Amino acid sequence: MSILKKSKKSHLLKNMFLDESVDIQRFDLVKYPQIEKITEKQLGFFWRPEEVDISKDKKDFDGLTEHEKHIFTSNLKRQILLDSVQGRAPNLAFLPIASLPEVENWIETWSFFETIHSRSYTHIIRNVYPDPSAVFDTMLDVKEILECGNDIATYYDDLIKDNNSATNKMDHKRSLWMCMMSANALEGIRFYVSFACSWAFAELKKMEGNAKIIKFIARDENTHLAATTTMIKKMLAEDKDFVKISKEKEDEVVKLFTKVIEQEKEWAKYLFKDGSMIGLNETILSNYIEWIGCKRMRALGLPCPYTVSKMNPLPWTEKWIGGGNVQVAPQETEISSYVVGGVKQDMDENKLAGLSL
Ligand SMILES: [Fe+2]
Ligand SMILES: [Fe+2]
Repeated sequence: MSILKKSKKSHLLKNMFLDESVDIQRFDLVKYPQIEKITEKQLGFFWRPEEVDISKDKKDFDGLTEHEKHIFTSNLKRQILLDSVQGRAPNLAFLPIASLPEVENWIETWSFFETIHSRSYTHIIRNVYPDPSAVFDTMLDVKEILECGNDIATYYDDLIKDNNSATNKMDHKRSLWMCMMSANALEGIRFYVSFACSWAFAELKKMEGNAKIIKFIARDENTHLAATTTMIKKMLAEDKDFVKISKEKEDEVVKLFTKVIEQEKEWAKYLFKDGSMIGLNETILSNYIEWIGCKRMRALGLPCPYTVSKMNPLPWTEKWIGGGNVQVAPQETEISSYVVGGVKQDMDENKLAGLSL
């Protein structure tokens, strides 16, 4: 297959995936402006971990108890694994079958931002550990981390296999559907126990540099969640096969989400095995993850098997997750709510009437 083959169909008439491949990367007219908007928003969030001052974290880390150090380091190890997969898998699995320029561009942007996350973990670990390699070398020894990694990889592996050898188009669409659902659950649920712990440390005025980096990561993951949710909805709207598949696979998808939620709860148990931390314990984190999991499932029209409260069981986490929409001037340090290029371009002269310069 050639890397550039002129499409017979207009790029405005193709399906998102598994249609003729993209020829020209053009964004003048796009089939899905929502996807294009998400890419622009994500690009506006560009950040580098080195911009965040984490020098005080080293002193804080040395003062943590052994079980607090266990919580901190284990969470980083697990996030390293999640982002190692996401920094590569969307490009390997979704990109080869993307058929629209804005979707192809989104997937590359998505994976690129995951690589920033991966780089930020090395930055954090280098700062607090004299031998950072020891952390990386031992992370796959943790059973809970390995299990989580294998579960995510399965859906990507299935899709990659079908991309290369599927003979039945419906089966190929089925593996795409399950993989997109798995990516949605990863982006929307799998990080949140770790996020809550990082922010709980910062609520106690400890490891604040780390918490700030995690806030940037959470802002990106929220964008990725919005993108996978949008793609799922568009896939349903443009192709009746996916409506059929969504009904046929509903139980399997509910099981997938439930397993993700249960794995997060297991993770909370592992983190707190030697002691919890102020403001958090296994029960409250489990309630939080069920609450967030149900929110994600309902957003996709899925039934949620858990009984959850209306209110967020950890309301203080919201100030760490929000902030992406607020525009303030950047000062000397990185401000987490600053969006580069996030300005409106649709001003016309009438809107400026009455203003004298
Ligand atoms: Fe990430
Ligand atoms: Fe992500």
